[in-house]
Amino acid sequence: MVVLSSSRHALWRCVFSLLLLVHSAVAYSVISDDTLRALPRPGDDFDIHTGKLLSPILIPRVPGTPGSTAVLNHFNDFFQTSLPDWKIEFQNSTSKTPVSGDKEVPFVNFIAYRDPPWASKGDVGRLTLVAHYDSKYSPEGFIGAIDSAAPCAMIMHAMRSIDAALTKKWTEMGARGHSNLDLDEHTGIQVLFLDGEEAFQTWTDTDSLYGARSLAETWEDSYHPVMSNFKTELSSITLFVLLDLLGAKSPTIRSHFPTTHWAYQNMGKLENRLRELGELRSAPPHEEKAKRNEIRWLVDVEASERHVTSRGGISDDHLPFMHRGVEILHLIDFNSGSGFPKVWHTMEDTGENLDGPTVEDWSMLVTAFAAEWMELDGFFETTPSARSADLHSRKTEL
Ligand SMILES: *[C@@H]1O[C@H](CO)[C@@H](O)[C@H](O)[C@H]1NC(C)=O
Ligand SMILES: [Zn+2]
Repeated sequence: MVVLSSSRHALWRCVFSLLLLVHSAVAYSVISDDTLRALPRPGDDFDIHTGKLLSPILIPRVPGTPGSTAVLNHFNDFFQTSLPDWKIEFQNSTSKTPVSGDKEVPFVNFIAYRDPPWASKGDVGRLTLVAHYDSKYSPEGFIGAIDSAAPCAMIMHAMRSIDAALTKKWTEMGARGHSNLDLDEHTGIQVLFLDGEEAFQTWTDTDSLYGARSLAETWEDSYHPVMSNFKTELSSITLFVLLDLLGAKSPTIRSHFPTTHWAYQNMGKLENRLRELGELRSAPPHEEKAKRNEIRWLVDVEASERHVTSRGGISDDHLPFMHRGVEILHLIDFNSGSGFPKVWHTMEDTGENLDGPTVEDWSMLVTAFAAEWMELDGFFETTPSARSADLHSRKTEL
């Protein structure tokens, strides 16, 4: 009897973990074509002179300068005004730099997140979208449009685009009540705009990644209450999606890490589906379908995980997080033949040299990825005809 009951107990435990396993395997449901077509477009918000999201970032924003403060205020205003359900935090540090002598330069990381309203903070795992907002100290006047003003704006658009759907989903779930089994009820979303990514002089371990190093270190030691699902702020990051050097035409995005290749592939599939649906402006809907399929940004989408080698060579804001065990999806335009985009770290990296359709398409792809991750299928307003008219009218303007 004792043996039987304990083995029955074991059996139930087994069934339970199997259920969990099955659940997490099926939890990632693919988003529908209708939802992909219904995703909001940025409209004029990426206009480099007047665009509400992008244009305020296209200024020099060296850490500790008024430009940096202006851009921080822009983020703050945007979240407070357009995304009032998000919580905003700053994580500050100071450091001497090779050009500051004995002076401490301030670094301010901007953090915004939204969790399911019923979940306590330590129980929420967050999809985390990351870009750096600082610009290079030299050459003087450097703008850094792809590096990383445009990625910041893409993330802003994506978060604004899924916010109403999140509200709708969480309101419905809250009304239905919830059980402890549903992992999906503990999924939140977070944005990190990091400061001090760039080196002031030449890239070294100490002259670069000022903001990222400070944040990763701080969060590693920020413990959630005991018995929380996640031990620290750092471990609450379920996936760290880093966008960098995006906005130039025809990017090449490789898959860098076998352990997140599945997430890379999910994004790659979304890219292909958006193209096939004619929703991407870098693959114009009026061109033949065959031509559309030739364009591919996430070039490793068909590759097997076994062939993804971490090409450890690209140093970026993910490093201090990766070294502490955070899972990384690194979206950076790097081609083994030509390297980073041509304008990289030159005075040519300006708003004028961004490729408009590419910037807009990135914002749609990030939106789709976040919508799928947050399981928002069916929670968007669907007015496809109005939107497709918008896409076409914008196309003729350009
Ligand atoms: C961090 O810096 C920002 C911007 O200067 C400031 O608004 C905020 O109050 C600071 N936060 C802390 C905790 O010092
Ligand atoms: Zn840079």
